[in-house]
Amino acid sequence: MRVVLVLSLLSTGSVLAISPGFPYGSSKVRGVSLGGWLVLEPWITPSIFDSTGNPAIVDEWTFGQLQSRPVATAALTKHWDTFITESDFAAIKAAGLNHVRVPIGYWAFELEVGPGEPYISGQLPYLNKAITWATNNGLKLIIDLHGAPGSQNGYDNSGHRMPYPTWHTNVTNVQRTSTVLKKIVAMVKDNAANVPAIQALNEPAGYFGPDVLAVTKKYWEDSFSNVRYPYGSARKSDTVLVIGDAFQPLSYWNGVLTNPSYEGVAIETHIYTLFSVPEVRMSEQEHINTVCGKGSSLASVDRWTIVGEWSPAMTDCAKYLNGRGIGSRYDGSYEGTSATRVGSCAGWSGSASTFSASYKTSLRKFWEAQVSSYEKAEGWIQWTWKTEAGVAEEWSYKSGLANGWIPSDPTNLIYPNICR
Ligand SMILES: *[C@@H]1O[C@H](CO)[C@@H](O)[C@H](O)[C@H]1NC(C)=O
Repeated sequence: MRVVLVLSLLSTGSVLAISPGFPYGSSKVRGVSLGGWLVLEPWITPSIFDSTGNPAIVDEWTFGQLQSRPVATAALTKHWDTFITESDFAAIKAAGLNHVRVPIGYWAFELEVGPGEPYISGQLPYLNKAITWATNNGLKLIIDLHGAPGSQNGYDNSGHRMPYPTWHTNVTNVQRTSTVLKKIVAMVKDNAANVPAIQALNEPAGYFGPDVLAVTKKYWEDSFSNVRYPYGSARKSDTVLVIGDAFQPLSYWNGVLTNPSYEGVAIETHIYTLFSVPEVRMSEQEHINTVCGKGSSLASVDRWTIVGEWSPAMTDCAKYLNGRGIGSRYDGSYEGTSATRVGSCAGWSGSASTFSASYKTSLRKFWEAQVSSYEKAEGWIQWTWKTEAGVAEEWSYKSGLANGWIPSDPTNLIYPNICR
């Protein structure tokens, strides 16, 4: 009788075998990513790239390839030691947030760096420190595998900028990624209270077509076993697997790893309204309307849905945002956009001290619109916690707190009805 009862509860999905380290579904995820720390991004820390003196150094791959390794290693080590410290975790907690998402590349695992791959390892001790700091400060940490062998999207933030990514074109790359994922799981599988979720891969570039999507789907399915069954088939972990939408509508993934057979899977989507000419041409109200319009479709997904990246930025004006040496659509300096130039980037990016009062009000409204909308689903993780001083501060949660466009309590909204 007992067996029958359990089975019938399972079939309705009302009993979950997982006890996650955070009550996903009943409490809202509010968090930030520690972008640009354990995976370099030229626009978050431009000085690290500028000080190489070599304009061909555009990502972490070329950072290791095109300069002396001792010099590169020293620069990376200094950055890892200083860009994020435990005081950041205390400030994140004090800002009323409950999650930190930490991007890391496969090359953090030294044994997984293949021959001819110029990456420099050394990030793992910092990931472990981050877990300790999150634990000390009562924050939940999501490990986000942000860079895979071959690059899953060709962005500089995958570690290796390239016109067409090659992760999905080579089964060895995908197998290596699963090996790395298993190593991540092995590190934290008994610590779901503090590391409740693992994101198996950031932003595989599904817009390149069905080949990428087929490989990604299989990889998500393999990741379910790797994240939820690290002890073998008889026992599940309490670690939630986070899959991504791969730039497809969330509905594309309906039926992939969904309840009730596959409990403990969340999906995340990234919402930016600035990486195309039509978007940088939108008015403030159009930006707000766009994000408000996402709420109902987010809420209609039949599983935990998190907006895992977003920003109050409304332009692509941040230096190197589109890549080192690449300009902005907003001011027409991006190749092919001079005819659709919107205006000067002055005052839209850089130091918050250059931002007008009305721009800061715009940032506040756009921030609140997104928070209101994304909390219709399971919540949000803003990109990003901090940027180097004086650069791209419209993207920085920390600068937003200091300059008033982000409230010191994320539930304290000035425009609570902005999406109505
Ligand atoms: C596939 O990638 C691996 C490294 O992950 C490399 O050693 C191998 O040569 C690649 N195969 C092809 C056919 O490109």
